[in-house]
Amino acid sequence: MARLDVTETFHHISFPGHIHTQDSLNYALHFQFQDRDTVIATYPKSGTTWMQEIVTLVKNRGDPQLSKTVPNWARAPWLEQHYSAKVLEATQGHRILTTHLPYNLLASALQGSKAKVIYVARNPKDVAVSYYHFHKMAKFLPEPNSFDEFLDSFLEGSVSYGSWFDHVKGWTSQAGVLANVLYISYEEMCIDFPQDLQGSMERISSFLQCPLVGEELTNSLRHCSFSSMSDNAMVNYTQIPKEIMDHSKGKFMRKGEAPLLDVLGVPRSLERVKGYSTT
Ligand code: A3P
Repeated sequence: MARLDVTETFHHISFPGHIHTQDSLNYALHFQFQDRDTVIATYPKSGTTWMQEIVTLVKNRGDPQLSKTVPNWARAPWLEQHYSAKVLEATQGHRILTTHLPYNLLASALQGSKAKVIYVARNPKDVAVSYYHFHKMAKFLPEPNSFDEFLDSFLEGSVSYGSWFDHVKGWTSQAGVLANVLYISYEEMCIDFPQDLQGSMERISSFLQCPLVGEELTNSLRHCSFSSMSDNAMVNYTQIPKEIMDHSKGKFMRKGEAPLLDVLGVPRSLERVKGYSTT
Protein backbone atom coordinates (compact mmCIF):
# COMPACT_ATOMS: atom_id res chain seq x y z
CA MET A 1 0.00 0.00 0.00
CA ALA A 2 1.41 3.44 -0.91
CA ARG A 3 2.47 5.66 1.94
CA LEU A 4 1.49 9.31 2.30
CA ASP A 5 4.62 10.39 4.09
CA VAL A 6 5.30 13.71 2.39
CA THR A 7 7.10 16.04 4.76
CA GLU A 8 6.36 19.71 5.36
CA THR A 9 9.37 21.47 6.88
CA PHE A 10 8.53 24.50 8.99
CA HIS A 11 11.01 26.37 11.19
CA HIS A 12 13.48 23.46 10.76
CA ILE A 13 10.98 20.88 12.07
CA SER A 14 9.35 18.22 9.88
CA PHE A 15 5.59 17.80 9.99
CA PRO A 16 3.51 15.20 8.16
CA GLY A 17 2.55 16.93 4.87
CA HIS A 18 -0.63 14.87 4.70
CA ILE A 19 -2.23 16.96 7.48
CA HIS A 20 -0.08 20.11 7.59
CA THR A 21 0.60 22.86 5.08
CA GLN A 22 2.70 26.02 5.36
CA ASP A 23 -0.60 27.91 5.58
CA SER A 24 -2.02 25.73 8.35
CA LEU A 25 1.22 26.00 10.34
CA ASN A 26 1.28 29.76 9.89
CA TYR A 27 -2.38 29.89 10.94
CA ALA A 28 -1.36 28.34 14.29
CA LEU A 29 1.52 30.77 14.72
CA HIS A 30 -0.80 33.74 14.38
CA PHE A 31 -3.76 32.22 16.16
CA GLN A 32 -5.87 34.55 18.30
CA PHE A 33 -6.36 32.70 21.57
CA GLN A 34 -9.35 33.65 23.66
CA ASP A 35 -9.28 33.72 27.45
CA ARG A 36 -11.83 30.92 27.69
CA ASP A 37 -9.88 28.56 25.41
CA THR A 38 -8.38 25.36 26.80
CA VAL A 39 -5.18 24.36 25.03
CA ILE A 40 -3.83 20.80 25.29
CA ALA A 41 -0.14 20.80 24.38
CA THR A 42 1.83 17.59 23.96
CA TYR A 43 4.65 15.94 22.11
CA PRO A 44 3.07 13.08 20.05
CA LYS A 45 2.32 9.82 21.91
CA SER A 46 2.30 11.49 25.31
CA GLY A 47 -1.39 11.06 26.11
CA THR A 48 -2.92 13.70 23.82
CA THR A 49 -6.05 11.69 22.98
CA TRP A 50 -6.52 10.78 26.63
CA MET A 51 -6.36 14.42 27.69
CA GLN A 52 -8.76 15.41 24.87
CA GLU A 53 -11.20 12.87 26.29
CA ILE A 54 -10.69 13.99 29.89
CA VAL A 55 -11.20 17.67 29.08
CA THR A 56 -14.27 16.89 26.95
CA LEU A 57 -15.78 14.87 29.82
CA VAL A 58 -14.92 17.50 32.44
CA LYS A 59 -16.50 20.26 30.38
CA ASN A 60 -19.59 18.09 29.89
CA ARG A 61 -19.77 17.13 33.56
CA GLY A 62 -19.21 13.44 32.88
CA ASP A 63 -21.85 13.20 30.14
CA PRO A 64 -20.24 11.02 27.41
CA GLN A 65 -22.66 12.07 24.64
CA LEU A 66 -20.15 14.35 22.87
CA SER A 67 -17.22 11.94 23.40
CA LYS A 68 -19.24 9.15 21.82
CA THR A 69 -20.63 11.02 18.85
CA VAL A 70 -17.99 13.52 17.71
CA PRO A 71 -14.44 12.50 16.72
CA ASN A 72 -11.70 13.89 18.94
CA TRP A 73 -10.13 15.90 16.10
CA ALA A 74 -13.44 17.73 15.56
CA ARG A 75 -14.14 18.57 19.22
CA ALA A 76 -10.50 19.34 20.12
CA PRO A 77 -8.84 20.19 16.78
CA TRP A 78 -5.09 20.36 16.34
CA LEU A 79 -4.43 24.05 15.71
CA GLU A 80 -1.68 23.42 13.18
CA GLN A 81 -3.54 20.86 11.04
CA HIS A 82 -5.13 21.89 7.77
CA TYR A 83 -8.79 21.49 8.77
CA SER A 84 -8.65 23.41 12.03
CA ALA A 85 -9.61 26.87 10.70
CA LYS A 86 -12.84 25.40 9.27
CA VAL A 87 -13.67 23.42 12.40
CA LEU A 88 -13.05 26.41 14.65
CA GLU A 89 -15.21 28.72 12.56
CA ALA A 90 -18.12 26.42 13.33
CA THR A 91 -17.33 26.19 17.06
CA GLN A 92 -19.38 28.20 19.51
CA GLY A 93 -18.44 29.04 23.08
CA HIS A 94 -15.62 27.36 24.97
CA ARG A 95 -13.04 25.82 22.67
CA ILE A 96 -10.72 22.90 23.29
CA LEU A 97 -7.60 23.21 21.15
CA THR A 98 -4.82 20.71 20.75
CA THR A 99 -1.26 21.31 19.60
CA HIS A 100 1.94 19.36 19.08
CA LEU A 101 3.87 22.54 18.30
CA PRO A 102 6.91 23.38 20.40
CA TYR A 103 6.40 26.32 22.75
CA ASN A 104 8.70 28.70 20.88
CA LEU A 105 6.44 28.56 17.81
CA LEU A 106 3.35 29.51 19.82
CA ALA A 107 5.08 31.91 22.23
CA SER A 108 4.03 35.09 20.52
CA ALA A 109 0.41 33.95 19.94
CA LEU A 110 0.11 32.93 23.60
CA GLN A 111 1.76 36.06 24.96
CA GLY A 112 -0.63 37.90 27.27
CA SER A 113 -3.33 35.26 26.79
CA LYS A 114 -5.28 33.90 29.74
CA ALA A 115 -6.17 30.72 27.84
CA LYS A 116 -5.81 27.66 30.06
CA VAL A 117 -2.93 25.48 28.94
CA ILE A 118 -2.56 21.83 29.96
CA TYR A 119 0.84 20.37 29.10
CA VAL A 120 1.07 16.58 29.24
CA ALA A 121 4.51 14.96 29.28
CA ARG A 122 5.34 11.27 29.11
CA ASN A 123 8.49 9.33 29.80
CA PRO A 124 10.56 9.52 26.59
CA LYS A 125 11.25 5.80 26.59
CA ASP A 126 7.55 5.05 26.34
CA VAL A 127 7.04 7.88 23.87
CA ALA A 128 9.78 6.47 21.62
CA VAL A 129 8.30 2.95 21.72
CA SER A 130 4.75 4.17 21.16
CA TYR A 131 5.89 6.49 18.34
CA TYR A 132 7.82 3.66 16.66
CA HIS A 133 4.70 1.46 16.60
CA PHE A 134 2.60 4.40 15.42
CA HIS A 135 4.98 4.94 12.48
CA LYS A 136 4.21 1.39 11.35
CA MET A 137 0.48 1.98 11.14
CA ALA A 138 0.28 5.69 10.23
CA LYS A 139 0.82 5.91 6.49
CA PHE A 140 1.48 9.65 6.74
CA LEU A 141 4.71 8.98 8.67
CA PRO A 142 7.84 7.43 7.19
CA GLU A 143 7.96 3.62 7.38
CA PRO A 144 10.41 2.81 10.18
CA ASN A 145 13.17 0.23 9.87
CA SER A 146 14.59 -1.20 13.08
CA PHE A 147 13.71 0.24 16.48
CA ASP A 148 17.39 1.14 17.03
CA GLU A 149 17.41 3.21 13.86
CA PHE A 150 14.16 4.92 14.84
CA LEU A 151 15.52 5.60 18.32
CA ASP A 152 18.57 7.32 16.84
CA SER A 153 16.27 9.64 14.84
CA PHE A 154 14.14 10.23 17.94
CA LEU A 155 17.19 11.14 20.00
CA GLU A 156 18.50 13.40 17.23
CA GLY A 157 15.11 15.11 17.02
CA SER A 158 14.83 14.43 13.31
CA VAL A 159 11.46 12.66 13.61
CA SER A 160 8.18 14.46 12.83
CA TYR A 161 7.41 17.26 15.31
CA GLY A 162 11.10 17.54 16.24
CA SER A 163 12.92 16.84 19.46
CA TRP A 164 11.09 15.46 22.51
CA PHE A 165 13.77 17.05 24.68
CA ASP A 166 13.31 20.55 23.21
CA HIS A 167 9.53 20.17 23.35
CA VAL A 168 9.41 19.28 27.05
CA LYS A 169 12.07 21.83 27.96
CA GLY A 170 10.35 24.58 25.97
CA TRP A 171 6.90 24.08 27.47
CA THR A 172 7.93 23.26 31.04
CA SER A 173 10.11 26.37 31.26
CA GLN A 174 6.96 28.51 30.95
CA ALA A 175 5.79 28.04 34.55
CA GLY A 176 5.31 31.58 35.81
CA VAL A 177 5.37 32.97 32.25
CA LEU A 178 2.08 31.58 30.95
CA ALA A 179 -0.83 32.99 32.94
CA ASN A 180 -2.68 29.68 33.37
CA VAL A 181 -0.76 26.47 32.92
CA LEU A 182 -1.13 22.99 34.39
CA TYR A 183 1.70 20.49 34.01
CA ILE A 184 0.76 16.87 34.31
CA SER A 185 2.45 13.62 33.33
CA TYR A 186 1.01 10.56 31.63
CA GLU A 187 2.59 8.49 34.41
CA GLU A 188 0.79 10.24 37.24
CA MET A 189 -2.54 9.61 35.51
CA CYS A 190 -1.69 5.94 34.94
CA ILE A 191 0.03 4.33 37.87
CA ASP A 192 -2.37 2.65 40.31
CA PHE A 193 -5.35 3.17 38.04
CA PRO A 194 -8.02 4.33 38.89
CA GLN A 195 -6.88 6.19 42.03
CA ASP A 196 -4.29 8.32 40.25
CA LEU A 197 -6.64 9.09 37.41
CA GLN A 198 -9.20 10.27 39.94
CA GLY A 199 -6.64 12.56 41.60
CA SER A 200 -5.56 13.87 38.19
CA MET A 201 -9.15 14.35 37.08
CA GLU A 202 -9.86 16.37 40.23
CA ARG A 203 -6.80 18.52 39.58
CA ILE A 204 -7.75 19.06 35.93
CA SER A 205 -11.39 19.83 36.67
CA SER A 206 -10.49 22.30 39.38
CA PHE A 207 -7.91 23.94 37.07
CA LEU A 208 -10.66 24.26 34.44
CA GLN A 209 -12.99 25.67 37.10
CA CYS A 210 -15.50 22.87 36.53
CA PRO A 211 -15.04 20.78 39.70
CA LEU A 212 -16.81 17.45 39.29
CA VAL A 213 -18.94 15.91 42.00
CA GLY A 214 -20.37 12.42 42.64
CA GLU A 215 -21.51 10.71 39.46
CA GLU A 216 -19.98 13.41 37.27
CA LEU A 217 -16.60 12.21 38.47
CA THR A 218 -17.31 8.46 38.40
CA ASN A 219 -18.82 8.70 34.90
CA SER A 220 -15.83 10.70 33.66
CA LEU A 221 -13.43 8.15 35.13
CA ARG A 222 -15.31 5.28 33.53
CA HIS A 223 -15.45 6.83 30.08
CA CYS A 224 -11.81 7.79 29.88
CA SER A 225 -10.43 4.45 31.05
CA PHE A 226 -8.16 2.66 28.58
CA SER A 227 -10.75 -0.07 27.95
CA SER A 228 -13.61 2.33 27.38
CA MET A 229 -11.57 4.53 25.03
CA SER A 230 -10.30 1.45 23.16
CA ASP A 231 -13.94 0.69 22.30
CA ASN A 232 -14.86 4.26 21.38
CA ALA A 233 -14.66 4.72 17.61
CA MET A 234 -14.52 8.51 18.13
CA VAL A 235 -11.05 8.21 19.67
CA ASN A 236 -9.55 4.88 18.62
CA TYR A 237 -9.06 6.00 14.99
CA THR A 238 -10.68 2.84 13.59
CA GLN A 239 -12.84 5.04 11.34
CA ILE A 240 -9.81 6.41 9.55
CA PRO A 241 -9.44 4.61 6.19
CA LYS A 242 -6.71 1.99 6.00
CA GLU A 243 -4.92 4.02 3.32
CA ILE A 244 -4.17 6.53 6.11
CA MET A 245 -3.95 4.26 9.16
CA ASP A 246 -3.35 0.60 8.57
CA HIS A 247 -4.97 -1.16 11.51
CA SER A 248 -3.53 -4.50 10.42
CA LYS A 249 -0.15 -3.09 11.51
CA GLY A 250 -1.23 -2.23 15.04
CA LYS A 251 -3.75 -0.45 17.21
CA PHE A 252 -3.79 3.23 18.12
CA MET A 253 -4.86 2.31 21.65
CA ARG A 254 -1.92 -0.06 21.96
CA LYS A 255 -0.93 -0.76 25.57
CA GLY A 256 -1.61 2.34 27.63
CA GLU A 257 0.93 1.51 30.30
CA ALA A 258 3.47 3.45 32.28
CA PRO A 259 6.15 1.06 33.48
CA LEU A 260 8.46 3.86 34.51
CA LEU A 261 8.26 6.73 36.89
CA ASP A 262 7.15 10.27 36.35
CA VAL A 263 9.13 12.30 33.90
CA LEU A 264 8.27 15.88 34.76
CA GLY A 265 11.16 17.51 36.53
CA VAL A 266 13.36 14.47 35.96
CA PRO A 267 15.30 15.00 32.74
CA ARG A 268 16.39 11.58 31.52
CA SER A 269 19.85 11.10 30.09
CA LEU A 270 20.04 9.88 26.52
CA GLU A 271 21.89 6.76 27.60
CA ARG A 272 19.02 5.66 29.80
CA VAL A 273 16.69 5.78 26.84
CA LYS A 274 18.84 3.31 24.89
CA GLY A 275 18.19 -0.39 25.34
CA TYR A 276 14.59 0.05 26.47
CA SER A 277 11.95 -2.60 25.75
CA THR A 278 10.58 -2.12 22.25
CA THR A 279 7.37 -4.09 22.48
P1 A3P B 1 0.81 3.30 23.81
O1 A3P B 1 1.18 3.28 22.35
O2 A3P B 1 2.01 3.19 24.71
O3 A3P B 1 -0.23 2.30 24.16
P2 A3P B 1 -1.31 10.22 21.84
O4 A3P B 1 -2.77 10.34 22.03
O5 A3P B 1 -0.52 11.40 22.36
O6 A3P B 1 -0.96 9.85 20.43
O7 A3P B 1 -0.80 9.02 22.77
C1 A3P B 1 -1.15 7.70 22.49
C2 A3P B 1 -0.74 6.84 23.67
O8 A3P B 1 -1.63 7.12 24.77
C3 A3P B 1 -0.85 5.35 23.36
O9 A3P B 1 0.18 4.73 24.14
C4 A3P B 1 -2.26 5.05 23.90
O10 A3P B 1 -2.47 3.69 24.18
C5 A3P B 1 -2.22 5.90 25.18
N1 A3P B 1 -3.57 6.14 25.72
C6 A3P B 1 -4.65 6.67 25.10
N2 A3P B 1 -5.71 6.67 25.92
C7 A3P B 1 -5.31 6.13 27.10
C8 A3P B 1 -5.97 5.83 28.34
N3 A3P B 1 -7.26 6.07 28.52
N4 A3P B 1 -5.23 5.27 29.33
C9 A3P B 1 -3.93 5.01 29.15
N5 A3P B 1 -3.25 5.26 28.00
C10 A3P B 1 -3.93 5.81 26.98
